[in-house]
Amino acid sequence: MTAWNTDRHLTQPYEWAEPVPLKTSLQRAREVFATLLNLLVFAFESVPLWWETLVAQFVTPSSKNISGQTALVTGGANGLGQSIAIALAKEGCNVAVVDVDETNARKTVASLRRYNVSAEAYKVDVSDYEAVRQLGRDVERDLGPVDILVNNAGILPTSFSQDALPSHIERSMGVNVLSSVWTTQTFIDSMIRRRKGHIVAISSIAGYIAPGWAKTYATTKFALRGFMDALEDDLYLRGQANHVHTTTVFPFAFNTRKQAISLLKASSGLTRLPIYEPAMLGETVVRAIKTNQRKVVVPEVLKPYQLSIYENLPIKIRQLLTRTMAQGEVKLVD
Ligand SMILES: NC(=O)c1ccc[n+]([C@@H]2O[C@H](COP(=O)([O-])OP(=O)(O)OC[C@H]3O[C@@H](n4cnc5c(N)ncnc54)[C@H](O)[C@@H]3O)[C@@H](O)[C@H]2O)c1
Repeated sequence: MTAWNTDRHLTQPYEWAEPVPLKTSLQRAREVFATLLNLLVFAFESVPLWWETLVAQFVTPSSKNISGQTALVTGGANGLGQSIAIALAKEGCNVAVVDVDETNARKTVASLRRYNVSAEAYKVDVSDYEAVRQLGRDVERDLGPVDILVNNAGILPTSFSQDALPSHIERSMGVNVLSSVWTTQTFIDSMIRRRKGHIVAISSIAGYIAPGWAKTYATTKFALRGFMDALEDDLYLRGQANHVHTTTVFPFAFNTRKQAISLLKASSGLTRLPIYEPAMLGETVVRAIKTNQRKVVVPEVLKPYQLSIYENLPIKIRQLLTRTMAQGEVKLVD
């Protein structure tokens, strides 16, 4: 029986919540007044915070030393994960490379050790909750508690038709979303206890701009963004925001798995898309970790808030902007 079926409130007969009590005009006026007062207090108290944010734009952020820390990179055997693992090793981090591709995980580990750090390969399917719990014990035994967790493993769209296959959709949800929840649950308690940690997630531009030809992928990347926002708030509510940091990364297109990148190059609206080399992403992610950057678009040609503006444009204006940027190429290829 699944957890869904065992939820007690679902097996009991449906009951409506208590009716919302009717309010007098006076009570409603009081509520409006209280809300306006709160807004006024907010406006007043936010002034120094806006000032602080503005000043920060013109000041080089201070950088923390991560040398000697233990980092874990999921999907670290290849592609962007490998470039992140290398950049972390260059900074003096000991690295756990976690991947289903054992052969390349071992090769990556061998190249990391050239930087005089400890590195170990772990063959783990990170969408498997029990396997991730075991991973937590194994890494702690071999390399010590994890300080930097990089949730990078993901399945990129490799065919349009697969986007509609239930098995592919489930697998993508498992690898691109659930794995980050499992690893975070596994490693966050020790970070909080030790008042030290950093959790990174590799979302995508598709976590803001959802292409119709990659619905499953975009769904997972939006979900990861939501998870990271909630995690950040959770840490703030627990009073941990100054000790355990989060970074969500939104990469454009990077030259990794041939099958996925060939498809991307041929996709609607993307044939002129610049494709970047992974090393740049690794370096940007490490810089973002060292400066506690919350969100970063790679390459840093845009700020995440600009993507939020795009996301909230009136639909016809957004479609026009997309068509203009893609020089009229936008069509559904399926
Ligand atoms: N390459 C890009 O253009 C691009 C752009 C935006 C975001 N991203 C994101 O960056 C991340 C890495 O992308 P990439 O291009 O390097 O992909 P990739 O396919 O080249 O590498 C992914 C790695 O993850 C591993 N992996 C897959 N499933 C796994 C699982 N269940 N457990 C453990 N390891 C697993 C693979 O074996 C592989 O080594 C993904 O989350 C992807 O969505 C990539």
